[in-house]
Amino acid sequence: MACKIIIDTDPGQDDAVALLLALASPDELEVLGITSVAGNVPLELTTRNALMLAELAGRTDVPVYAGCERPTVRPLITAEYVHGVSGIDGANLPDPTTVPADGHAVDFLIETVMGNEVTTLCTLGPLTNIAVALEREPAIASRVDELVLMGGGFFEGGNTTPAAEFNIYVDPEAAAIVFTSGIPLVMMPLDVTHKALTSRANVEAFRALGNAAGHSVAGMLEFMERFDMERYGIDGGPLHDPCVIAYLLEPELFSGRDCYVAIETESELTMGMTVVDWWRLTDNEPNCLVMNQIDNDGFFRLLTERIGLL
Ligand code: RIB
Ligand code: CA
Repeated sequence: MACKIIIDTDPGQDDAVALLLALASPDELEVLGITSVAGNVPLELTTRNALMLAELAGRTDVPVYAGCERPTVRPLITAEYVHGVSGIDGANLPDPTTVPADGHAVDFLIETVMGNEVTTLCTLGPLTNIAVALEREPAIASRVDELVLMGGGFFEGGNTTPAAEFNIYVDPEAAAIVFTSGIPLVMMPLDVTHKALTSRANVEAFRALGNAAGHSVAGMLEFMERFDMERYGIDGGPLHDPCVIAYLLEPELFSGRDCYVAIETESELTMGMTVVDWWRLTDNEPNCLVMNQIDNDGFFRLLTERIGLL
């Protein structure tokens, strides 16, 4: 039985690879819908990009719902410096021929979770849509089977401030709502995604697939990795968001630890920090499985194999 999932996303080149991986895996993942959120680029662009990627995957059967255009409390910050003005620079895709589904993403999230026995939420951007849905209908917390998120960092620090990773930093209040909701959480922080590094060989392997998806993925990764290579002085860029989908397909690729995680929402110095009680120094019960190890070869094998099916 395929796992029923909703993907909440702010494409973003790494979001794009995650979406393609999910849409290429219909036997294991029934994507009930894609919900866009403002993050890497403004909502209009993240929504447009999600439509283009569903078309690239030949999966226009999956509806795309536009979500929140700004965080719950703070002003929106975006990341064109990483992803380019379009959000998926390097993809070289045609304009979308489809349009978003009618209705707001938050209403879709609530109706779908309340209407299905089991739903898994996959979040690849700021947690704004999920938090607004929880505030509007708290009952969804007990019906979501699992929420797998890319976000946060601990031993690895942050990538937007010294303390905070982008997805959490953009909307820390939303993250705090999600991390105190009681929903079973699996977190893919920078501690694991910084080990999911592209290389010349695996970017060329995508291009060598010879299909439109492989060519677009190679172009996107070559655009996105330059920022991290310059910042960190490494030979390749981290592929953050596909870790979320890869976990659902092959959980054995990852390992980590059940921890209590809290979100900083007061201090401007550490705003958006994911404070992970890795050594169990408090009496707080764990609320999250925090991943910190990945089989990187297996990860790229899975990605290349599935992108090749599109
Ligand atoms: O910090 C990395 C995260 O922020 C990824 O999800 C990337 O797409 C951006 O949204
Ligand atoms: Ca993202």
